[in-house]
Amino acid sequence: MNIKKLVLAATLASIAAGTAWSQTTLRIFTGGQQRPDVMRKIADEYEKRTPGVKIAVEVGGATSDAQQQYLNTVLTSKDSVLDVVLIDVIRPAQWAAAGWAEPLDAYLGADRQKVLSQYMKAYVDANVVNGKVISLPYFADAQFLYYRKDLLEKYKRSAPKTWDDLMETAQIIMQGEKNQNLRGFETAGAPIEGTVCTYLVPLWGEGSDITKNGKLNLDTPEARAPFQLMGRLKQSGVLSPNVGEIATDRIRINMQAGNLIFAQTWGYVWNRSQNDADSQVKGKIGVAVLPSSKTGKGATCIGGWQLAVSAFSKNKAEAAKFVRYLSSPEVSKMQAIAASHLPVFPSVYKDKEVLAANPWFEFAGPIVETAKARPVTPRYQEVSDTIRSNMNAYLSGTKTTDVALGDMQKRLSPVFK
Ligand code: GLC
Repeated sequence: MNIKKLVLAATLASIAAGTAWSQTTLRIFTGGQQRPDVMRKIADEYEKRTPGVKIAVEVGGATSDAQQQYLNTVLTSKDSVLDVVLIDVIRPAQWAAAGWAEPLDAYLGADRQKVLSQYMKAYVDANVVNGKVISLPYFADAQFLYYRKDLLEKYKRSAPKTWDDLMETAQIIMQGEKNQNLRGFETAGAPIEGTVCTYLVPLWGEGSDITKNGKLNLDTPEARAPFQLMGRLKQSGVLSPNVGEIATDRIRINMQAGNLIFAQTWGYVWNRSQNDADSQVKGKIGVAVLPSSKTGKGATCIGGWQLAVSAFSKNKAEAAKFVRYLSSPEVSKMQAIAASHLPVFPSVYKDKEVLAANPWFEFAGPIVETAKARPVTPRYQEVSDTIRSNMNAYLSGTKTTDVALGDMQKRLSPVFK
């Protein structure tokens, strides 16, 4: 689709209708996974209360990476076509360094502190880069363990606390069900952003991290743990054999089709699996914290999507106003109910209607608050590429732990020196 031609056609049409001079159209970009249908309803509400402003929702990119690839093209050419852009929680530092986001401090003015103080701290940390507000949070996210409540009940098993429990329960159910399509456990394994968390969650679970005092810290026994865990899950037949091809939304599709016992995935899966017409698992899903290793330390990856005003927008002041509306408790509640998007406001987790739609939000708030961030650096793209491609190579059987870890060390040592 040629966006410029479309915009021109729309402008000409509105001139013909005599409205060109009174109307601002703000164009917001979102990925398909972030529920553009819900964004449209929110935009309709904003249009009702903001005469003279129309919102166009543009959708592109099935994964966080595909979205950013498209945006790279638009932004490096300084194209003014987009006014507001939904960006993954890992990107504000990169956007700040590239000069793609209009800092929002001046638009928040005297409200800056008041606005920032309403959010969970992790989202202030993610969106304020070198003292500047690069974006405001739209919704929070974290990885959870989704499980088939009905099958666990049938085999008298409780939600697993450790990865060993998970493996044992999955094996018992798979043997009992004798269903060729039923897999034990799935997590992202394709060379995409989500696979970074497939590596980090077990690493953090061992109490370790990629860096220590700012220096690369992969020369440790703990750095091997994620490979060892995935290797054991694969050997036991519990992990999907094609995990190297599994991207984020595929996990939801497989869970919804009734083909998965356990999944490590994000908040949005709840709403889709309970409400989509084709879901085979309505009322059959439970959500819990991710299992921990034997050491008992659970961990999860923080996620979520932020709203940035494009540095090349021709409507920055109007765009900033729209962003403030989108980043409000009112909109957070709408998203929580319509899409199980986790709130960035602690108060919204206590809302009765929100809890009725998402009973598991009762324990989700503290999980989000203690979830860990992927490395924060303007060079995040290299970090992500390195981790995900090596984890993917291990999962696909083309690299051993030693080779994958050695390659990660080589590529990451110049980033964290
Ligand atoms: C979810 C998370 C996001 C993460 C992505 C990976 O959308 O909110 O932070 O990077 O999944 O697939």
